[in-house]
Amino acid sequence: MTTPTFKAGLEDVVVSTSEICFIDGEQGRLLYRGYDIHDLVARSTFEEVVYLLWHGALPTRKELGGFVKELAAHRRLSPKIIATLRGFPGKGAPMEVLRTGVSLLGMFDREHDDHSREASLRKALRLTAQIPTLVAAWARIRKGKEPVASSPRLGHAANFLWMLFGKRPTELSAKAFDSCLILHADHEFNASTFAARITASTLSDMYSAVTSAIGTLRGPLHGGANEQVIRMLLGIGEPARAEAWIREALDQKQRIMGFGHRVYHTEDPRATHLRRLSEALGRQAGDLTWYEISRVIEREMQAEKGLYPNVDFYSASTYHAMGIEADLFTPIFAMSRVSGWTAHILEQQAHNRLIRPRAEYTGPTRATYVPIDRR
Ligand code: ACO
Repeated sequence: MTTPTFKAGLEDVVVSTSEICFIDGEQGRLLYRGYDIHDLVARSTFEEVVYLLWHGALPTRKELGGFVKELAAHRRLSPKIIATLRGFPGKGAPMEVLRTGVSLLGMFDREHDDHSREASLRKALRLTAQIPTLVAAWARIRKGKEPVASSPRLGHAANFLWMLFGKRPTELSAKAFDSCLILHADHEFNASTFAARITASTLSDMYSAVTSAIGTLRGPLHGGANEQVIRMLLGIGEPARAEAWIREALDQKQRIMGFGHRVYHTEDPRATHLRRLSEALGRQAGDLTWYEISRVIEREMQAEKGLYPNVDFYSASTYHAMGIEADLFTPIFAMSRVSGWTAHILEQQAHNRLIRPRAEYTGPTRATYVPIDRR
């Protein structure tokens, strides 16, 4: 028998093959199905990227047209789901509502337990179409406002902003938000994707797998970092205070949210785009405060710790400049990442083997049982 070897946090452990996403952490490269993220952000749309992740190839114009229509046609939530949302406590964190809401969607899906590729693709489409509706509906219901019906004429990104604010986004906001969705769509075997694949590997259903992923994304060491970043920036308040603040935080050995990455040891290619978007959206809002504070923190983190910003750092000031509330940042991450989670669930289902690793046992081995009245 071979003795299992242990690697804390599974660092650098390869647990599967995958054809979906490639990361080169030394060169700062990120590819979806072989396509460079820089090309996809510059030339593609989120819908096109979702198609690519699920089908492994870019769509033709006709395929994309049909796919965009299909997605838009499935955005609406059952009135029973909206009624259930109205019964949730007003203080319910949007990530908790999303986790519960996705679980609820599963109960309403008649194809729930059909694991064929065709049914799984249909479920992935419904989940991707409906998660934005859930997020936007809760954001309004919790404030006593009515949800806004989706607009079939708007693309996935612009429609979310429409459902959230009840007004059409500017062209810059819609394009920037679409880029954010592309940038967050997939990232190999990150913690939430791994959670989704583990759940799928037991032959459980897609809704359970995505619910596992949402619960995993929520933590501040993963997708929850973007919310913590904006809270930090708001706490600092002005660019002139940023340098002293970050030095003191580092002296106190604080972990600075939005920095560092398990795989990238150079600039995260997603951060390159998000930095630019943060500045552009700050200019549009007439307030570069949060971008400027971010720049100071980035400079100090690089100088003091040699750490680079990750995807969560500049997405925070970008969303804030669009007027989006802090606790919606991580649900927005999920709105995009559901495309990657479901691509991975499809891949897991196609080549399934139960994921069941081992632990290196470090507990006692010769404990003698003591009857309860003698302990
Ligand atoms: N702030 C301060 N120090 C840091 C940070 C940070 N953000 N990140 C890493 N370090 C330091 C650690 O203190 C440690 O230093 P030490 O060796 O002197 O103790 C060293 O860098 C290595 O850190 P680990 O936590 O061992 O590295 P790991 O690969 O486990 O961490 C992680 C990756 C969890 C992302 C980490 O960088 C972190 O906590 N970042 C902040 C949270 C965050 O932004 N998460 C989002 C990641 S991207 C995503 O999931 C979408």
